[in-house]
Amino acid sequence: NGKYTVTLIPGDGIGPEISKSVKDIYAAAKVPIDWEEVSVAPILKGGKTVIPDAAINSVKKNTVALKGPLATPIGKGHVSLNLTLRRTFNLFANVRPCVSIKGFKTPYDDVNTVLIRENTEGEYSGIEHEVVDGVVQSIKLITWDASERVARYAFHYAKASGRSRVTAVHKANIMKMSDGMFLSACRQVAKEFPGITYDEDLLDRVCLQIVQNPKPYADRVMVMPNLYGDILSDMCAGLIGGLGLTPSGNIGRDASIFEAVHGSAPDIAGKGLANPTALLLSSLMMLRHMNLDEYAAKIEKAALTTIAEGKTITGDLGGKASTQEYTEAIIKKLA
Ligand code: IPM
Ligand code: MN
Repeated sequence: NGKYTVTLIPGDGIGPEISKSVKDIYAAAKVPIDWEEVSVAPILKGGKTVIPDAAINSVKKNTVALKGPLATPIGKGHVSLNLTLRRTFNLFANVRPCVSIKGFKTPYDDVNTVLIRENTEGEYSGIEHEVVDGVVQSIKLITWDASERVARYAFHYAKASGRSRVTAVHKANIMKMSDGMFLSACRQVAKEFPGITYDEDLLDRVCLQIVQNPKPYADRVMVMPNLYGDILSDMCAGLIGGLGLTPSGNIGRDASIFEAVHGSAPDIAGKGLANPTALLLSSLMMLRHMNLDEYAAKIEKAALTTIAEGKTITGDLGGKASTQEYTEAIIKKLA
């Protein structure tokens, strides 16, 4: 019954429960989307583990996907499925807004920043080798093209979202060549956007300052290489209450995948306790990406009011509600 078809990757652990919550809310809000549910559980093909073709073809065809958490194996010989998805579809920009949520008490109530993380290279290139016994080399790969591409995306994003400043976050004092080139690409792109203030700041300084006072970081977009964005986005998530509340979108030219950044929480999986907010907020980024802003605004208001009232919220937010009860409370507010 939908005008659009979106791929849904429910994921592992709590993934199916929080995905169901999003589906129920969307059905109640009459969002014109049909879900095409696929599994990305890896299969063995010619001695290699790969993502099933059905999943790849679905994302290719629909160009938009919503994804739950996927367990990430640690150790040699295992490639993260999350990374495989980003690589397969060349999802070059990872957008992570971090905005204070009313009703959820943290030491800060004025966090409002957007991190844009280069999403295809850096330390995530996966190029590692043992030079000699006891010595390992991991390659941090930075290319001009990927740096320029993510910088341009960051400036476009700032302009479209009414943010007046783009800050490139770096360690070019140490990584003189790689981060130095990243900054050169950002500076060049900045010239195309005279209406937006451009500046640069050191990663360690940003970490120190933003936890002391996040206010000066409101109204801006911060763009940075892959690993810095991974770490800084978790830190910023901590400022607003943790990964249960922060959305993200992996943007590519041919496809985009919106996902909750948190893990699969196997300890509470299947118990009806999980907080679906991060996946729900990620799905709202997806709706806005699809120009379905009205639906996004309506659902966002219902969810944020439910949290602000604090009566029917999940355990991680200090409440006693089950995933289902929280979902129903949001649905009631849609009316
Ligand atoms: C994230 C996650 C991933 C990353 C893991 C699961 C591979 O931490 O999306 O931030 O490191 O990028
Ligand atoms: Mn991370």
